[in-house]
Amino acid sequence: MIVLGIESSCDETACSIVRDGREILSNIVATQFDLHNSLGGVVPELACRRHIDTLLPVVEQALHEANITIEQVDLIAVAQGPGLVGALMIGITAAKALSLSLGIPLVGVSHTEAHLYAAIMADATPPRYPCLGAVLSGGHTTVLQINEIGSYRTIGQTVDDAIGEAFDKAARLLGLPYPGGPAIEKLALKGDAARFSFKAGSVKGRPLDFSFSGIKTAVLYACRDNELTDQVKADIAASFQEAALNDIILKLKRALAETSTDTIVFGGGVTNNRRLRTKLAQALPDCRLIWPPFELTLDNAAMIAGLGYIKFSSNQVDDLTLEAVPTKLLDL
Ligand code: KG4
Ligand code: ZN
Repeated sequence: MIVLGIESSCDETACSIVRDGREILSNIVATQFDLHNSLGGVVPELACRRHIDTLLPVVEQALHEANITIEQVDLIAVAQGPGLVGALMIGITAAKALSLSLGIPLVGVSHTEAHLYAAIMADATPPRYPCLGAVLSGGHTTVLQINEIGSYRTIGQTVDDAIGEAFDKAARLLGLPYPGGPAIEKLALKGDAARFSFKAGSVKGRPLDFSFSGIKTAVLYACRDNELTDQVKADIAASFQEAALNDIILKLKRALAETSTDTIVFGGGVTNNRRLRTKLAQALPDCRLIWPPFELTLDNAAMIAGLGYIKFSSNQVDDLTLEAVPTKLLDL
């Protein structure tokens, strides 16, 4: 079965062709990096306009690279949410139009669930369920129990900023470009992580929850109270990154103890961070860590098409009443 996936929930316009839920025939992502970089973050109205201009060329390119015609597509999958409502609506409208004109079914999928599926679709050995899932992105810091694909129970989440958002805000304070995660990771390589004693927050009575707003303020004070030489900036970046990642490791250890599983599936843009992968491998040597391949960590449509196939195979079909859901879908 050939699935065409569409992703437009935030600042990437993406289309991918995936065969049978796993084999990626093409995976096109048009990033809006240039548009939002100088503005320090995603501007929803500008994102929507760019999606409108870019979506159809991206679909055409995905078909071209997959070496198929549109008539060969069997199913349309689209990110239904969470995300920016206007941005989601553009992808959904295109998906409906394609489904209607081609006379093929349509499935809406959760963007967050798709981030987790990205790791599962790429791994030859499926996880042993139940296992843990961790979505670490610009919009989410969520730890969940995965009973099976489609059945989740949230066991920890952020009460304020998401981890990727914290990276982006810390980067902004350091005068680094958006998105901040990759910039902080690069600068941190030159810094001393022990120079500043930052610490992520804890949530009273909820040991599995996250709070990153305090650490952001600590970075603000460090920037204000020190002469920002290149070395000091690198030290702040390294100290911030280490503290944020240590907190993820701490909460995952607690979640493992609570659920007595030995597998964690990861998803989301922050899983791009190589320091995170190294530290977790060291901290949890007996745990199976299932990471998305680097080309599927950030927002992409291959994960949407892949998950769409799974949903369709378990009898989910949507129709022209499909609507954007800007907030959480399922427990995700
Ligand atoms: O999953 P994603 O593409 O979009 C959302 O669904 O949010 O994640 C984007 C986030 C941004 O906040 C970005 O700064 C962060 O992922 N990110 C990173 C790295 N690469 C991207 N954070 C830390 N280290 C990285 N190397
Ligand atoms: Zn995402």
